[in-house]
Amino acid sequence: MDEALQDLNPAPRLLMGPGPINADPRVLRAMSAPLLGQFDPQFRAYMRQTSALLRGVFQTANPSTLVVDGTARSGIEAALVSLIEPGDRVLVPVFGRFGHLKVEIAKRCGADVRVIETEWGRVFPEEILAKEIRKHQPKLVAISHGDTSTTMAQPLAVLGRLCREHDALLYVDATATLGGMDLPVDAWHLDVVSAGLQKCLGGPSGAAPLTLNARAEQHIFRRRHTEQGLRTSDAVDGEGPVIRSNYLDLAMIMDYWSDRALNHHTEATSMLYAARECARILMQEGLASAFARHVKASTALTAGLGAMGLTLFGDQRHKMPNVTGVLVPQGVEGEKVRRALLGCFGIEIGSSFGPLHGKIWRIGTMGYNARQDAVLITLSALEAVLSGEGVKLPRGAAVDAALAVYGRN
Ligand SMILES: Cc1ncc(COP(=O)(O)O)c(C=O)c1O
Repeated sequence: MDEALQDLNPAPRLLMGPGPINADPRVLRAMSAPLLGQFDPQFRAYMRQTSALLRGVFQTANPSTLVVDGTARSGIEAALVSLIEPGDRVLVPVFGRFGHLKVEIAKRCGADVRVIETEWGRVFPEEILAKEIRKHQPKLVAISHGDTSTTMAQPLAVLGRLCREHDALLYVDATATLGGMDLPVDAWHLDVVSAGLQKCLGGPSGAAPLTLNARAEQHIFRRRHTEQGLRTSDAVDGEGPVIRSNYLDLAMIMDYWSDRALNHHTEATSMLYAARECARILMQEGLASAFARHVKASTALTAGLGAMGLTLFGDQRHKMPNVTGVLVPQGVEGEKVRRALLGCFGIEIGSSFGPLHGKIWRIGTMGYNARQDAVLITLSALEAVLSGEGVKLPRGAAVDAALAVYGRN
């Protein structure tokens, strides 16, 4: 029979790359709940609950805390296209692939983009960020918190204050870190922050949680515009230029999420259930416990990799606890190892991009997979594959080292 007519029956996989990871089974269960209309009072209650749960995740009191329908990139693009007016000066510090993505999007929005770059595997010292903000006087600074391409996390605690001193808005892409690392949005004065579900939040990709504060709201509502087919006689547009995307217009999306419930897109109902369940599971566990779980998994993984004699990539003081870069040993073909891990063990780990292409593997310990069993299975499989490739390593040492971190020696 034609393969396309057979049931969808994907092989079981342990997804230990930089995302997506295996979704928490509770999230998949929530996604199979019956569909509701988006203006059904029960569904509106689920939206309000999602917003409240996400306020906990983002550590914010922002009323405008919502979900953009689309992958994490839709959250980034919604933030940038709604904040940037053509000609605005935007500063983008780039320390990996996803910095370049923000440069690309800001350019498409017609911004005058100023880029500063650092070598992949490093982050920016705060003094450099301060100096560049003073020099460029941007209207907006757009930066990643963690960049999965390099596994590094940029310290952000003072950047919000610096931006306020210079009257700049600050957008943070927390796709790789939300739920896995501390990111207190209000305490750090972050104006707009967005993420995705498929990393530390333990869901599938396809929904982008986003929060924005009153400063950003004011800015975006200056550009508010109501679609002709929905206009009522009392509709008043903002005085600013219309946002250049309809789907990603945050003013419209805020109006849809607010009690005005103004029609916009048809809700991706099952993804909203997923976002609600991801946030619920995280808040039930507690942020501190989730962050500690990620640190423990990362410490165990890196101890195991070290015991195998492998070298970690990048400035370890700034490594994210949820993704680890490890150098492909001399004489080993990185892709052959990845193929063997997938083919023999059903385990996926990540390759790398740009200047790191072919040089490192990226191993995720995030969200639902930041677990002892997932770390141990990955280490033992990698050890067997590398040994089969002729790498001399002490058999059993990796799992022992990781077990020692979990306190079960
Ligand atoms: C920091 C960061 N930003 C953005 C993205 C893009 O996310 P998506 O593929 O869900 O659009 C990723 C994905 O890896 C990421 O790590």
